[in-house]
Amino acid sequence: MAKLDKNFLWGGALAANQFEGGYDQGGKGLSVHDVMTAGEHGKAREITETIEDDKFYPNHDGIDFYNRYKEDIALFGEMGLKCLRTSIAWTRIFPNGDETEPNEEGLQFYDNIIDELLKYNIEPVLTLSHFEMPLHLAREYGGFRNRKVVDYFVRFAETVFNRYKDKVKYWMTFNEINNQMDTSNPIFLWTNSGVTLAEDEDPEEVLYQVAHNELIASALAVSKGKEINPDFIIGNMISHVPIYPYSCNPNDIMEAEIANRLRFFFPDVQVRGYYPGYALKMFEKNGYDIKWQEGDDEILKNGTVEYIAFSYYMSTVVKHDEVTSVEDNVVNGGLPNSVKNPYIKESQWGWAIDPVGLRYTLNVLYNRYQLPLFIVENGFGTTDEFKEDGTIDDQERIDYLREHIKASIQAVDEDGVDLMGYTPWGIIDIVSFTTGEMKKRYGLIHVDRDNEGNGTLKRTKKNSFYWFNNVIKTNGEEL
Ligand code: BG6
Repeated sequence: MAKLDKNFLWGGALAANQFEGGYDQGGKGLSVHDVMTAGEHGKAREITETIEDDKFYPNHDGIDFYNRYKEDIALFGEMGLKCLRTSIAWTRIFPNGDETEPNEEGLQFYDNIIDELLKYNIEPVLTLSHFEMPLHLAREYGGFRNRKVVDYFVRFAETVFNRYKDKVKYWMTFNEINNQMDTSNPIFLWTNSGVTLAEDEDPEEVLYQVAHNELIASALAVSKGKEINPDFIIGNMISHVPIYPYSCNPNDIMEAEIANRLRFFFPDVQVRGYYPGYALKMFEKNGYDIKWQEGDDEILKNGTVEYIAFSYYMSTVVKHDEVTSVEDNVVNGGLPNSVKNPYIKESQWGWAIDPVGLRYTLNVLYNRYQLPLFIVENGFGTTDEFKEDGTIDDQERIDYLREHIKASIQAVDEDGVDLMGYTPWGIIDIVSFTTGEMKKRYGLIHVDRDNEGNGTLKRTKKNSFYWFNNVIKTNGEEL
């Protein structure tokens, strides 16, 4: 018997802001990403006030999918993808965010994309917001600090739900809604919620107010979506970097248990429909005054998600008596006391490579929530070299993906986890989120573009393209 269901959603994952380009085409407004410069490993991206002439903004052009989508989708079809996870740029539909009428040209663009995908029998899986808040809402309203932004988000969600209700079944609300728990890196609050912090503010208190508003926005979107089409399947999307205890010292175990709340706070609310006790206790102890409106309890209760989508790239470790500086801490979602795992190697960008951690994550999430899971991001960001014959032998990427797929199949086949699908991140090379680089490549299709924006944008299939095609054809039997 096949280990995976015959309808298993093998696919690829992308985000509008990282690959579409066309940042000022089709009536699109500026988004929070359009004022982010390129950084590199160890050098943070800068968020500028406006677009400055002497700075480079890699998301403006992405990989020019906006103008090349037919060619790219044909390649996805050839790879055999059964689904494509991408996002709708909020700013194509409501350029400033607070308009009452949507931008028809933006809606038409996604009609074209969806129709093109369906032509190749590729199921669209859409994220409503993948770090794409209109810049106007961030600057003029303070992003999700402001409850009005909830209404604007819901208007956007309803507009796209209505428009695509007969063509799209799978949705998710906010991408990696929980990565902003890491307030040490300003880009997370900015990209997720359009929020910047004043120096005298307590980042944690701001975060929880923002979180509340965003959780309300997510729950309202789920309820509205189900009203518009009861057959929609709507999930949330979290980043899961499991936090291991450094040792069997009970203090390390407890440290990890507490730290893992950073991962679970958002999904605990989105799945259960109410706040977990540890959060309420923390608000009380810290004297946080989180503003609730009448009816919020009901909204959360009525807007729970039907599946959990998550990204998995790596794991991390905490040691109760260790103190590391944020600068030294290379691990994404870095914690003040995280240390390197001596059993695990890391990528060039310092991301720990841990396939067992994916099986562990699938078990932890499934046991905690008993909802279907969807791995909507996983992959290996690295540089690629062309061989003399013009091919790209990306064996390291294949090895990474193979081991993670094996671990996922084990979770299904041995542990009984309900897994809907697997969509490797950046199925075609795109702009990196954290660094803005092009050379941190995840793609199974190469794009000729460098960190400075030079290159012909030519697409070339890597060896992993053919390998993944066979994985899909054999439904994971041949890895
Ligand atoms: C996730 C995001 O954090 O990881 C993606 O949802 C992102 O947008 C991906 O691109 C990989 O991160 P990076 O920084 O290597 O692009």
